[in-house]
Amino acid sequence: MIDPAAPVLDVRAVAKTYPGGIEAVRAVSLQVRRGGLLALAGESGCGKTTVLKMINRLEDASGGSIVYEGEDIATLDPVALRRRIGWVMQGDGLFPHLTVRENVAIIPRLLGCSRDETGQRVSEMLGLVALPADDYADRYPAELSGGQRQRVGFARALAGRPDLLLMDEPFSALDPITRDTLQQEFGALRKDLGFSAVMVTHDMAEALIMADEIAVMQAGEIVQQGTPADLLSRPANAYVSGLLETPRRQMRAIRELGA
Ligand SMILES: Nc1ncnc2c1ncn2[C@@H]1O[C@H](COP(=O)(O)OP(=O)(O)OP(=O)(O)O)[C@@H](O)[C@H]1O
Ligand SMILES: [Mg+2]
Repeated sequence: MIDPAAPVLDVRAVAKTYPGGIEAVRAVSLQVRRGGLLALAGESGCGKTTVLKMINRLEDASGGSIVYEGEDIATLDPVALRRRIGWVMQGDGLFPHLTVRENVAIIPRLLGCSRDETGQRVSEMLGLVALPADDYADRYPAELSGGQRQRVGFARALAGRPDLLLMDEPFSALDPITRDTLQQEFGALRKDLGFSAVMVTHDMAEALIMADEIAVMQAGEIVQQGTPADLLSRPANAYVSGLLETPRRQMRAIRELGA
């Protein structure tokens, strides 16, 4: 039985040492609430992608445990687990030699959906990300703009109807206007489909605007998890307040323009 009040994902003191002794993650604990979006922020190389990889068992943890929907993922079949969890990669991660239709169809096919059902799912998902199948399904990724490729990346990750979506800097390669549009569209998708998500980001303004909660990672550990308001009013240390300084400064500068 799934307890609706329990976190969807509970990462407990997880560690990862790569072969060669590289201690990428020391002790990360974080929780994702049901239907929530948790932003995972921190400097380059602090271990964010490694945390995502451990959640869907692309990498196995060296210590600690990860509980997904009440089950320790170490006890689950990694392939079956990955089909329940959507993954939006750093960059768009599309297969360049497959069409948009084939890229989005990958997970439904792996889940054993029939050809008809897969076709329907692909059209539905492309519709949800504002890329009508009639116009876009037969194109190759190289025939799309960066924003369109990222939309296909979302459609592909959501085509298996995952309960949890892991996203590695999904908006970082986009120009500011496309980024803003996609961020808003993503908010609407989340409302419609009701999945929970972890989003790695370098951009604190993005984290503050989009996330229900933010976890800040520093040197392989989480130094603070809280709501945007918690972090703004009570940053746990100088590193967290430093990260918040840029969006604060930008906000002040815009206010001073009297806009
Ligand atoms: N397969 C691997 N083998 C050995 N070391 C690795 C491997 N993958 C990552 N690392 C190391 O682990 C540390 C954390 O890497 P990770 O990719 O998780 O960082 P990140 O926070 O996602 O960085 P970025 O923001 O630049 O994407 C880095 O020092 C990296 O060099
Ligand atoms: Mg990374």
